[in-house]
Amino acid sequence: MNIEKGLFKSAETVTLVNSAGMSVTLCALGAGIMSIKVLDRDGEAREVTRLASGGYGAAYHGLTIGRTSGRIAHAEFSIDGRTARLEKNNHGEDCLHGGSSGFHSKVFSLRVEQNAEYTDVVFEYDSPDGEGGYFGNVKVQSIYRLYERENKLATIYKAAPDCKTLLNLTNHAYFDMSGDLRAPVTEQVMYINASRVGDLNERLIIERIADVAPQFDFRTPRKVGEYVKDEVVQRYTKGYDHPFFLDARGLDKVACSLYSELSGIKLEVRTTYPCVVVFGDNFDGYKSTCFECEYNPDGIHSTPDDCGVCSPDKPYSETTEFVFTVTK
Ligand code: BGC
Repeated sequence: MNIEKGLFKSAETVTLVNSAGMSVTLCALGAGIMSIKVLDRDGEAREVTRLASGGYGAAYHGLTIGRTSGRIAHAEFSIDGRTARLEKNNHGEDCLHGGSSGFHSKVFSLRVEQNAEYTDVVFEYDSPDGEGGYFGNVKVQSIYRLYERENKLATIYKAAPDCKTLLNLTNHAYFDMSGDLRAPVTEQVMYINASRVGDLNERLIIERIADVAPQFDFRTPRKVGEYVKDEVVQRYTKGYDHPFFLDARGLDKVACSLYSELSGIKLEVRTTYPCVVVFGDNFDGYKSTCFECEYNPDGIHSTPDDCGVCSPDKPYSETTEFVFTVTK
């Protein structure tokens, strides 16, 4: 593995290049992905993440999201009689992506650990009790693992809280498999292994979990754009911005995929999480797609047995893998 350190503003960056020709640049600000490059079918390196207009970090590009990803209704939740009052940073009513002081805004410490099979970039941050309105001191690790001989990047989240609390950590990278704005993402072929999807209200809070209507049924791969202008997909969200509930979870199953005929590059996402929020960058021209693997975002209110509650006895540990292959 070739490892190079650098700086973005005053935050440390590290670029890893594996022997299969994949390179990943990570940044301590927001413990995020700045760039992923893979070789296309002609052997040319292609950038497969898309910067939102505004650059790294704008619209949460590439960042680690926490303490909770997505929207918590009414910016409030309780566990065992303790209530967290969060920032109402969305629609003046709900908490989105942990509020403005969320993990995306923090400078993490960074260390690199290497062995023959993979290299880990370990980002760490100690979130104090009360930060953003959440309770409990939490030591969080957001780890990126790049494999040496496979084009596989894992995001691994580990956290040890000092009391029972809620976490729901994800990454917010925007993917474009054409690798060079050569074709809109709406032309790319998407698969999602989900027969259920969140039905959203006007504040994008899940009202109920429903069977997928044809507009949301990607169990047979098809173009992202086929239904993107459909009124049901446009309503409230202006495109896909929906939590899909996976039919199976685990690193031995494909949760979703995205493929560009132009580059031949395919991304497969595998995850230990039960849900993936598929977000086309709806407000920035729909050039890319985010696969935010996480727990049900508002699960603390609707699926409390499977929502990211962790404790000193049950530390947080979840993994998502992004695997890139090329069709000749
Ligand atoms: C949310 C979108 C939001 C976006 C912000 C996504 O995770 O689902 O509704 O606009 O983040 O970049």
